[in-house]
Amino acid sequence: MAPVIELRAVGKSYGNIHALHGVDLTVEPGRVGCVLGDNGAGKSTLIKIISGLHRHTTGEFLIDGQPVRLSSPREALDRGIATVYQDLATVTLMPVWRNFFLGSELTCGRWPFQSLDIPRMRRIADTELRAMGIVLDDLDQPVGSLSGGQRQSVAIARAIHFGARVLILDEPTAALGVKQSGVVLRYVAAARERGLGVVFITHNPHHAYLVGDHFTVLRLGAVELSADRSAVDLDQLTHQMAGGAELDELRHELQGESAP
Ligand SMILES: Nc1ncnc2c1ncn2[C@@H]1O[C@H](COP(=O)(O)OP(=O)(O)OP(=O)(O)O)[C@@H](O)[C@H]1O
Ligand SMILES: [Mg+2]
Repeated sequence: MAPVIELRAVGKSYGNIHALHGVDLTVEPGRVGCVLGDNGAGKSTLIKIISGLHRHTTGEFLIDGQPVRLSSPREALDRGIATVYQDLATVTLMPVWRNFFLGSELTCGRWPFQSLDIPRMRRIADTELRAMGIVLDDLDQPVGSLSGGQRQSVAIARAIHFGARVLILDEPTAALGVKQSGVVLRYVAAARERGLGVVFITHNPHHAYLVGDHFTVLRLGAVELSADRSAVDLDQLTHQMAGGAELDELRHELQGESAP
């Protein structure tokens, strides 16, 4: 399948700080690409470029084969690129169904007698959530009463409903326990089943390996490893993420051995 997104040798400088350089990345429909890396590696910078928040300073960014320079997240969204941020812009006191339609409310009637089409919004939210396997007891409960994992899941279902082709998840499991992380990872897999291209940012190689088809490890703003699942195993990925050679050196230091 043709990639939806392609980055070719993309670089980004903030003044004289080079946050990214020479980064290649493709996002294909029906595949989960994981982006891993330590703090400051450039993960957030990378997704900010794809999601239209920042512009790259060098290289090429293509959507459906066309070079683009996005100037706002709205522009990315119009092209089907949806980003679910870690701190989820949800209004916690709002009912779930209302939050699902936030900013895109359905109305009925004609101006000046328009009103919110509550039954239809409730029904669609229910159907969409169920299609993702998310069953909530009560769609009238406030979003704030959902667990972190459920909130992420609602945000994912919402992005799919509004026509996303690419879903970008910035560390969706970072603040979650084992069980809740499992919930979110299932929806990542469900999004892939529905044909979306997923960019999954994480620190956690175990989470990445559960759902990833491709792995890109960033280090100091550059790609250190780019491999399909068939070319890398969990041990290699974990070792790479733990710092690889640096970790070996540290072990020698802490155990009082001299480095080889
Ligand atoms: N707006 C900015 N202005 C200046 N420098 C920035 C800006 N945003 C990021 N940087 C720098 O770019 C580099 C990459 O940062 P980035 O936030 O992309 O890393 P990250 O991989 O997301 O890290 P973390 O895991 O801590 O979220 C860092 O050195 C950071 O200090
Ligand atoms: Mg970050």
